[in-house]
Amino acid sequence: MKKKGLKGVILSGGRATRLLPSTLVTSKQLLPVYDKPMIYYPLSILMMAGIRDVMIVSTSQDLYRFQRLFEDGGHLGLRISYGVQEEPQGIAHALLVAEGFVGDDHVSLVLGDNIFYAETLEETLNKMSIPAPGATVFGYEVHRAERYGVFRFDETGKPVEILEKPKNPPSNYAVTGLYFYDHKVMEICHGLKPSHRGELEITDVNNAYLALGELSVVKLGRGSAWFDSGTFEDLHKASTYVQIIQETHNIKIACIEEIAFNRGYINRDQLKHLADLQKKSSYGEYLYRLLEE
Ligand code: DAU
Repeated sequence: MKKKGLKGVILSGGRATRLLPSTLVTSKQLLPVYDKPMIYYPLSILMMAGIRDVMIVSTSQDLYRFQRLFEDGGHLGLRISYGVQEEPQGIAHALLVAEGFVGDDHVSLVLGDNIFYAETLEETLNKMSIPAPGATVFGYEVHRAERYGVFRFDETGKPVEILEKPKNPPSNYAVTGLYFYDHKVMEICHGLKPSHRGELEITDVNNAYLALGELSVVKLGRGSAWFDSGTFEDLHKASTYVQIIQETHNIKIACIEEIAFNRGYINRDQLKHLADLQKKSSYGEYLYRLLEE
């Protein structure tokens, strides 16, 4: 039997009405989070999980913007393709758009507005690079759990249910927007019914894996940060966080060229070329610094 691969899907659709007027003529996932477009952050997550085949799903109105930014991904040693989801009919619906692209492989889905950071993140994601049966999701302790998918745990701490935006959250653990699924996921998505808000819910997919006893939950600990940048407040917080971490540690978070270089996807000449293209920015200077190290 052919070994299963792992593909990546980034969801960059939706209308982002909570970010108007900033999203009047561009898409939310292209707004800057401090010094780079938001989508660099989820793309870096997939790259750290060893994924090189990526599909970006967005509306036909916005898709060309992502195409202009990444083209076919070759300059990063990736293969990037694009899928259209015309209406925001749900996260699981957008996953179905990528069905042909995923084929028989496993898939990691990441929401285009989710930002993760932890010193140990690369280690955690590296472990996910070998396709495993079932599904894995990541939990993060939050203050206002009613805004998210929320875990209900039994008295032994085992997750027994996930509730989507519950009025009375049964725990403070939110389900973050990063998911790893085996090949069964598309069949599960096909079996879903739209929720009361008319969407195919990713929470229903996760509950289906839970019912099969095949959902692993990794709790992101104290040293981790997670932002879902759906509002101006979140966006501002995420930008400030990125600035502080980058300046304190003298590094860049989600530098996709650095990840590609460190993983051997691109060589020094290719990195130099990418640095030359953006040499007037602090981002470009950082790429030159990588060449000197
Ligand atoms: O951020 C984590 C949360 O994301 C989870 O805790 C929830 O369980 C999950 O349902 C989701 O909730 P949100 O309400 O935050 O999802 P939102 O509708 O904002 O969509 C998240 C991203 O996915 C956003 O970048 C737009 C994109 N999207 C969303 C939908 C519904 C699509 O591309 N297509 C869609 O149909």
